[in-house]
Amino acid sequence: MRAAVTPGERVAALAVRVTGLRKSFSGRGGRVEALRGVDLSVPAGQIYGFLGPNGAGKTTALRILTTLLRADAGEVVVAGLDVSSHPAAVRRRIGYVGQRGGADIEATGRENLVLQGRLYGMGRHETERRADELIERLDLAAFCRRIARTYSGGQRRRLEVALGIVHRPDVLFLDEPTLGLDPQNRANLWDQLRRLRDTGTTVLLTTHYLDEADQLSDRVAIIDNGLVVAEGPPEELRGRHPAGVTITPRPGSADLAAVAAELGREPLVRGARIDGDTIRVDLDGATTGMAAVFDLLRARGVEVLGVSLREPSLDDVFLHETGRSLRDAGHPATTEAIAS
Ligand SMILES: Nc1ncnc2c1ncn2[C@@H]1O[C@H](COP(=O)(O)OP(=O)(O)OP(=O)(O)O)[C@@H](O)[C@H]1O
Ligand SMILES: [Mg+2]
Repeated sequence: MRAAVTPGERVAALAVRVTGLRKSFSGRGGRVEALRGVDLSVPAGQIYGFLGPNGAGKTTALRILTTLLRADAGEVVVAGLDVSSHPAAVRRRIGYVGQRGGADIEATGRENLVLQGRLYGMGRHETERRADELIERLDLAAFCRRIARTYSGGQRRRLEVALGIVHRPDVLFLDEPTLGLDPQNRANLWDQLRRLRDTGTTVLLTTHYLDEADQLSDRVAIIDNGLVVAEGPPEELRGRHPAGVTITPRPGSADLAAVAAELGREPLVRGARIDGDTIRVDLDGATTGMAAVFDLLRARGVEVLGVSLREPSLDDVFLHETGRSLRDAGHPATTEAIAS
């Protein structure tokens, strides 16, 4: 069993520390630099997201952190142990749910759990107890006595998470855990991961869903082309970027150019420009900024027909750092959802 940790200790401790991580692959098509010098610190007891487009290096990083792949250079410490000098000890302290999953589809869910526990050297009775506990916790009871081949996408993913935590790891790694899940199964899995975090497990996951990184993760590392381009709590990363307000005045009710110029001089306004019949304003801090904008519009007698507000997203962060939109980076696999 894991020793009890106070919240203060949890914040101070690091579950993962990565410095100068490099990995390249050579093949017929030439050399690919998958990781080009990655530094990361993952605090214990948090959900940490690796966000990045296809080919960014997320899976490569995860495979190195979980001892499945050797780095070319750099230092990786997981759960207090160096992965290159203590791979076996690291493996006992971590769980891994891969992009393709590791359940035996010809066995039942419960059999899978018991087998996994035995593989980790747990005793028969303890394994049986643990299997039943996980069946309850991850809501597997309705199907755990059927063979896994018959499971829906969401059911299989839940079983895989249970398999990843049978041996009570300190750190759970998941590669694209919600890929292809429908919204209900996705929300359910998010809840399970939050509960794991709340009971002291560090959860490190990769994703290329903006909302997953934003809403589920306590901290995010945005990865592109083998490098971390931004890192921190999602709200902090978003907060560095302006919110966009689009104002539609009644046609002819105002001199748009004069109003836009005046808005541009407001303290919280980063920029204001005319776009067709609308004025677009970039604001630092949506709430206070909006109030200032409306005061000015009212004072100038501008009749407003419509307003829309777009809060900054992690895509704005990605765009700012890379010059590309993560949305446009192309993820064919994410558009299909597996029905449950
Ligand atoms: N075994 C390998 N041999 C050659 N190239 C590889 C190998 N594994 C990964 N790569 C390359 O390394 C780069 C990073 O791949 P990686 O799988 O880490 O990306 P990813 O961020 O997980 O992408 P995705 O979102 O598509 O899963 C890619 O260019 C990929 O083609
Ligand atoms: Mg991947």
